[in-house]
Amino acid sequence: MDFPKSSTFPPSIVLEKSMGPNPLKLCEELLDGVGLPAGSVVLDLGSGTGLTSVLMAREYGLMVYAADLWSEPGENMRFFEGMGLTNRQIVPLKVDATALPFATEFFDAVVSVDSYNYFGRDPAYLGTCLLPLVRRGGMLLFSIPGMVRDCHDDLPACLLASWTPEQLDYMHDMVWWRRNLEQTEGVQVVDMHEMACTAEAWADWIACDNDYARGDRAAVEAGALDYLNTIAVVMRRR
Ligand SMILES: C[S@@+](CC[C@H](N)C(=O)[O-])C[C@H]1O[C@@H](n2cnc3c(N)ncnc32)[C@H](O)[C@@H]1O
Repeated sequence: MDFPKSSTFPPSIVLEKSMGPNPLKLCEELLDGVGLPAGSVVLDLGSGTGLTSVLMAREYGLMVYAADLWSEPGENMRFFEGMGLTNRQIVPLKVDATALPFATEFFDAVVSVDSYNYFGRDPAYLGTCLLPLVRRGGMLLFSIPGMVRDCHDDLPACLLASWTPEQLDYMHDMVWWRRNLEQTEGVQVVDMHEMACTAEAWADWIACDNDYARGDRAAVEAGALDYLNTIAVVMRRR
């Protein structure tokens, strides 16, 4: 696939900063179908090292709040500055997605790449913690690592080559996620689909030189991608 915006990033930075399947490609595919207007105020939820935050601020002209629990905001800000951005364009924050310190209806959109499955598996999460922060008519865009079909009762050996059953419980199929999200009132699920870039996003990830990527290689090389997908979710607050 073609990723004109993602390919403006030096490959060495993508290799160094990735925390999973290429977040730039996932984010570009997710956003390109939607067309958020430049200047929109966006929450990048579970932004990690901030690759997607830089993509959205620099290549889409969005005003981005890069919110993450495990990464350090100071380190992320130095990265953002090195990528040519200022604190007028991008704001790094260390926050828990279950206790977000923002005004109600503050954001035009929420984008979450490879993170929502950490905190959003409780179906009450969306309506309690996140949706109130989005303005009416605003968008919620998620790219969620998922399963083609839930197989938790009979996990294939290729998945168990890298992950425990407890870790695999973070992954579910589209039917499961639709049921999870549609329980919330006040939000319309506009679209859910399997993302086209999954295989290449995973190939980019397992080429990274870190222990997590090396750990995931065994499963991918054993055929895990026959069972895994990436689920794009497009929702609008009513
Ligand atoms: C696999 S990483 C993905 C990071 C980034 N979105 C990317 O694609 O490179 C998952 C991220 O979810 C974040 N996360 C997990 N639980 C969280 C929570 N309760 N609140 C905020 N962020 C959380 C972690 O800090 C981590 O950076």
